[in-house]
Amino acid sequence: MSIDAVTATRAYGLAVHAGAGSLDRTLLTARVESNIRTALEAAREAGFRLLERGASSIDAVEAAITVLEDCELFNAGVGSVYTATGGHELEAALMSGRHLAAGGAVRISTVKNPIRLARRIMERGHEVLLVGDAAEAVAREFDLEEVANSYFDTPGRLAEHQGALGAAAIDREWEGNSLLPMTEYGTVGAVAADQQGDVCAGTSTGGLVNKTDGRIGDSAVLGAGTYADNNGCGISATGQGEIILRLSLAKGINDRVIMRGSSLSLAVHEAVHNELSRYGGSGGVIAITSNSEVVCEFNTKAMFRACRTSRGEVGVAIFGAGFKDGDP
Ligand code: GLY
Repeated sequence: MSIDAVTATRAYGLAVHAGAGSLDRTLLTARVESNIRTALEAAREAGFRLLERGASSIDAVEAAITVLEDCELFNAGVGSVYTATGGHELEAALMSGRHLAAGGAVRISTVKNPIRLARRIMERGHEVLLVGDAAEAVAREFDLEEVANSYFDTPGRLAEHQGALGAAAIDREWEGNSLLPMTEYGTVGAVAADQQGDVCAGTSTGGLVNKTDGRIGDSAVLGAGTYADNNGCGISATGQGEIILRLSLAKGINDRVIMRGSSLSLAVHEAVHNELSRYGGSGGVIAITSNSEVVCEFNTKAMFRACRTSRGEVGVAIFGAGFKDGDP
């Protein structure tokens, strides 16, 4: 039997998330809920179809996150929140578990899809994390699509920005249209394992509503919001960046798996429900092993998430547990 024949039988799969928070179910209209589920499924399928064809977990994660970045509903890419001064500063990271290769970009203001930039920074291989102009120069080097910062202006996020400034009451109209009744942590992310058993994780965000200009969250910081290691797992987190940073949440999960031999589900459960909760943090995590065991945990009321594996596991969920919906 050839090596190809052996590796082709390996389980593969991916999971995506689009944030966690204290979603008020009574404010979630059927139309917005349906749009969220459709976007999550579209992202999942974009990644899964690539994995099915034998593409790398890196391709799958990039494709899935690009779909989420292009959806106004989520706080990443086009739907990014405003900073305190009324602009947008995006951040993203992508890490491959094969050789621990990684790339990240922060304070991005003119690159349409920061996850694509993170990948190019990783593949360029010089630096791991670039900021602002230096990162955007790489985008030009690779001909990535550039946009004006106003591309990230959306009416729903503007209402949220003004509401947080106290300048105006949030226009409730937008809650039935583009603004979700959950504005806390709309960060997006994906984790995947391909037919070679290579794991990848990526995360992309606009950060926190009305964040101080220059504030960096956890998403693009390896070991905090994003991490991948074939020997352990791939992880993407969402939640309060400052606490996730201090806990090195993603690396902590990987260390539990590798050093303590914890199952993925126990490692993620402890990180979210013991560690994150103990320090007053809220949020959630998706994680995957090289055998495509997929786990999701959150300590908030809701987390937007979806998964699919070659073993036939498939789900899209907002409430409930794991990748199954249920009562909030
Ligand atoms: N978790 C996203 C942020 O804190 O920026």
